[in-house]
Amino acid sequence: MSANIAGGDSTENTTGKDLTILLTGASGGIGQALAHNLAARGHRLLLQGRNQVALKQLCDALPGAHRHLVMPADLLDPQQRAELLRSCRSLSGGVDVLINNAGVARFALLADTDDSAMRSILETNLLVPMALTRDLLPLLQQSTKGAVINIGSAFGHIGHPGFSIYGASKSGLHGFTEALRRELGDSQVKVHYLAPRAVDTSLNTDAVVGLNRALGNRSDSPQRVAQQCLALLEGGRSARRFMGWPERLFIKVNALLPSLVDGALVKKMPVIRRFAEQNHLQGETL
Ligand SMILES: NC(=O)c1ccc[n+]([C@@H]2O[C@H](COP(=O)([O-])OP(=O)(O)OC[C@H]3O[C@@H](n4cnc5c(N)ncnc54)[C@H](OP(=O)(O)O)[C@@H]3O)[C@@H](O)[C@H]2O)c1
Repeated sequence: MSANIAGGDSTENTTGKDLTILLTGASGGIGQALAHNLAARGHRLLLQGRNQVALKQLCDALPGAHRHLVMPADLLDPQQRAELLRSCRSLSGGVDVLINNAGVARFALLADTDDSAMRSILETNLLVPMALTRDLLPLLQQSTKGAVINIGSAFGHIGHPGFSIYGASKSGLHGFTEALRRELGDSQVKVHYLAPRAVDTSLNTDAVVGLNRALGNRSDSPQRVAQQCLALLEGGRSARRFMGWPERLFIKVNALLPSLVDGALVKKMPVIRRFAEQNHLQGETL
């Protein structure tokens, strides 16, 4: 994993309670930064991902290592997901927070995207968070600090060429989050949404990094994403955050005047096509 790991800062835990948090995708770039920040606040983590070795190394490096649990599972496998849920239900003290962070991305033109890649992106980024949230809700509802945090993407709000399936998955995640926030609005469970712009993790291939550079798109560190996520968790009510400037402005312009953004992105198609071709030749798979 090429991402740097955050040393969580020592700011006080303002949730007023040490929470038990199921963090999916904990072995990834943003997941590791989040784990360090949350553990530094005194929270107990259930570290989820597929890579057991990476999860164990992460766990050993966290403040209060003995309190955290490693829970490896491929979330696309219904049996492994069921086993993960069984483990969560058997925990004394329950689970307070679910952070749906696990995700996959693929930079490709639609013509180069087969059914299996489409299925894998939509299931990982959309179906799995929806199903996990549904199945954990009874536990979250038993907590006075119950919360769900869904990690979306700026591409869920600005349809970007080369990311049509990824964007669709994150757009769907935003729609799900918004409806659920309202559905649970009269309950104690908070429903948060965070949409980062590009983040410096190994989710992005060399071609994506090159594309961002060529288009002048800025990126954030995983630590910055982790801080924003903590701010949501520690805020008093359900909320959503969009990261980065000018991306926040583009999201608003795109919602009001999409044809303006159509024009700007169509002009960039030759560059996008060139990097998509490079990505294709380098054989990016999921
Ligand atoms: N990086 C960006 O530019 C960016 C921008 C906006 C939003 N995001 C979102 O941020 C989230 C985290 O991304 P990241 O940048 O940290 O990516 P990353 O470094 O590639 O990490 C992805 C994580 O998801 C886990 N994962 C993927 N498929 C899984 C599955 N089937 N079962 C269980 N775990 C699975 C991976 O587990 P393994 O380690 O076992 O593979 C890994 O822990 C994603 O939802 C992503 O869409 C990222």
